[in-house]
Amino acid sequence: MATAVSVRVFKNFINGEWVASTGGKTHLNHNPANTAEIVGEFPLSSQADIDAAVSAAREAYKTWRLVPAPKRAGILFRVAEILVKRKEEVSRDMTREMGKVLAETRGDVQEAIDMTYYMAGEGRRLFGQTTPSELPNKFAMSVRQSVGVCGLITPWNFPMAIPSWKMMPALICGNTVVLKPAEDTPLSSYHLVEAMAEAGLPPGVVNLVSGDGPGAGAPLSSHKDVPVVSFTGSTSTGRIIAQICAPDFKHYSLEMGGKNIILVLDDANLDLAVDGAIWGGFGTTGQRCTAASRIGVHKSLYKEFITRFVDRSKKLKIGNGLDSSTDMGPVINEQQLQTVMSYVEIGKKEGAKLLTGGHRLDQGDYAKGWFHEPTVFGDCDPKMRIAQEEIFGPVVSVIPIDNLQQGIEVANGVPYGLSASVYTRNVNAAFAALRDLYTGIVYINAPTIGAETHLPFGGTKQTGNGHREAAIASIDFFTEWKSIYIDYSDKLQRAQIDNN
Ligand code: UN1
Repeated sequence: MATAVSVRVFKNFINGEWVASTGGKTHLNHNPANTAEIVGEFPLSSQADIDAAVSAAREAYKTWRLVPAPKRAGILFRVAEILVKRKEEVSRDMTREMGKVLAETRGDVQEAIDMTYYMAGEGRRLFGQTTPSELPNKFAMSVRQSVGVCGLITPWNFPMAIPSWKMMPALICGNTVVLKPAEDTPLSSYHLVEAMAEAGLPPGVVNLVSGDGPGAGAPLSSHKDVPVVSFTGSTSTGRIIAQICAPDFKHYSLEMGGKNIILVLDDANLDLAVDGAIWGGFGTTGQRCTAASRIGVHKSLYKEFITRFVDRSKKLKIGNGLDSSTDMGPVINEQQLQTVMSYVEIGKKEGAKLLTGGHRLDQGDYAKGWFHEPTVFGDCDPKMRIAQEEIFGPVVSVIPIDNLQQGIEVANGVPYGLSASVYTRNVNAAFAALRDLYTGIVYINAPTIGAETHLPFGGTKQTGNGHREAAIASIDFFTEWKSIYIDYSDKLQRAQIDNN
């Protein structure tokens, strides 16, 4: 007899209450390692839900912006403490909904904790400038001011870290938020918002509305009472969001694609470079915007690198991320798996050499999920599509390079500019690369992944639109400057005129 398994039903969080979506539509969140396992049922929200959430955020903004920043910080410190206590439980749930291995979901939750503590600390800084006036008996300073309701749209690959990159700086600056998480991973946002509610955030300051892009993301970014939109996801969706935001001159921050490279120079420590390429290429199943999807290897080391890299790729154990022996989990969903498979075909047609992998895994337990082999293409031409376009899966293109200069041309010769890395023991080569790689992030002797929360995160060209997340850079995005002049001379003093 079949046992009925009850599916947990989750709701939106609007104005301090957990509420069903007005249209009553829902969707099921599947475990990508075992699609028969339903992680939960979540609202598929629409315009009416977004309207309610924005209106609550707008009302709450009136008082939240006036709460002293150190008091706002007090609540964020409590949020971080709650997450520390729940780290294991929420990491396990994140592996169930997203698929990446437990060590990585623990890292994701830790990144949210780090960001929350970091931004709570900002509550006692939020520095402006004081500076001499050019006129006597006049005082000059600048302060940051909050902007209003922020619409935050987040991806599935870092289901708690990325919402925290957006929510924590927005809140510490006195804004209120409406979060629309990716429909593949709403549970992690639910856990984050639950911790925020428990920590004592007033109703309406944080609102969570789950749903898909057209149904919930579009009405959120176009809402007339949402002056700030922060989005992380694909470049094609980012372009749509830019077009929605531009006519109203909203602040909008876009964090989009990447085609990151590891350059292995002729003097590199090869063991270290192979370790970095494995972790950078196949960590998170290659589903990071910072993933090392290209490896440029100096011709003198090329053969040896390929032998070791392919050998290590073959040994990776693919499986459910909750199993401690698993190295690489599934791909997030069927559509993403189809994209990966189509790029494998493209690579073969372009004449790249398929050195290992290249197939969906669909036998035995693998048939239950969305698994794909770690895949390595060798002898890639830098202009091939597999070496130019973001694949967002476990596919790495290896490109032979002649020297540092040509490697840098290859590195910069893509439409994106997020992260790049160089393996070398030559300090001159390292500094030249640091100067010439046109990316937002550069690593020396470390792979392209592993950004820390207190340095700016983001990229050049089609990776972004000039903003950065994390660090003080995110505070810049979530505030407006106000320059203040106080004249205590008791007479009219004209700048640029009376002094000269
Ligand atoms: C992403 O690549 O989508 O730097 C975010 C890293 C992580 C964040 C990655 N701290 O790899």
